[in-house]
Amino acid sequence: MYFYLRSFARKCYSIGLKIIKKVKPGFTARGTGGTISARYCYSVFMRHIVQLFNNGMKTIPLRIAEFGPGDSLGIGLCAILAGSDEYYALDVVDHANNARNLKILNELALLFKEKAAIPDSNEFPEVKPLLDDYSFPAHIFSDDDLATNLSEDRLESIRQILSPAFRKNESGKIKIEYIVPWENYGNSYPVVDFVFSQAVLEHIDNLKNFYAVMSKILTDEGFVSHEIDFRSHSETYEWNGHWGITMTQWEKNRGTRPYLLNREPLSTHLQLFKESGFQIIAKIPSPGAAEGKPSIGRKKLVDRFLNLSDEDFETASCYIIARKFTDAE
Ligand SMILES: C[S@@+](CC[C@H](N)C(=O)[O-])C[C@H]1O[C@@H](n2cnc3c(N)ncnc32)[C@H](O)[C@@H]1O
Repeated sequence: MYFYLRSFARKCYSIGLKIIKKVKPGFTARGTGGTISARYCYSVFMRHIVQLFNNGMKTIPLRIAEFGPGDSLGIGLCAILAGSDEYYALDVVDHANNARNLKILNELALLFKEKAAIPDSNEFPEVKPLLDDYSFPAHIFSDDDLATNLSEDRLESIRQILSPAFRKNESGKIKIEYIVPWENYGNSYPVVDFVFSQAVLEHIDNLKNFYAVMSKILTDEGFVSHEIDFRSHSETYEWNGHWGITMTQWEKNRGTRPYLLNREPLSTHLQLFKESGFQIIAKIPSPGAAEGKPSIGRKKLVDRFLNLSDEDFETASCYIIARKFTDAE
């Protein structure tokens, strides 16, 4: 029955935000905790965009895709408020809902209108990447752009798409699509100029497929921007204790959860970026030593992780910007 519902859901999942619910016996949990807050979404979006503009991005990309948006589409809605026309949110669980998206959209519009400073580590001590300057990035958002992007007509188009009564995923130039589950997607994937994620790539089971899809959907001039958290996500007392757990035990711990952690270290991602035709433009690691939590010693690593390099063993999270290799390079 579950498989029947799942295949039915796959045929219908991309009808705007009107998501077909999937039912898996024994699993009901939804929700991740992060994007429930507009200030969190604003902080994450601004941190990515400031880093991107520091590293070669010149204009707000028009078509964007986010993997693993979590409890709301708020980070992607920031991009729409910043001037993007199309936003595709790809997840494995439909945590987000229209009511929360609408509420967060209205709060985000105010933050942009007020040119609010970017919430920093005092407010969100766990959020990365860090910035040197948390003031509103006026060098990226001119007053004219803000006036155009936050006009009442444009906000109304966005609200319509998010409104439960409006059964379309586009209004005017703006398009928002929530694709769940995105893996083995039956339709064609969108083409985008920017792909990003926040605290998601550590959860994706089939990373090879993810990197292949990311490369396929991104235009040659596009950028990707990912914050990856290699820590144990409280599955163990030590920040890196998950590298000391056998595969059998790890599978037991996961139980019926639709995702947990793939436990891959930084080097796996660097290798996959390379194999998928990307070059790294910026790499900002955070050391495990700064975690304020104990670390397991190398002697406790299980077979699969015995040969972790020192860089892998010591990296608790890493922010990465990459672009495709082109013939000119
Ligand atoms: C820790 S939450 C992060 C949510 C949000 N990005 C944030 O900053 O709060 C992890 C997210 O990754 C999603 N996820 C897990 N496996 C995934 C997969 N294979 N593809 C896409 N998203 C996935 C989860 O459903 C969830 O939305």
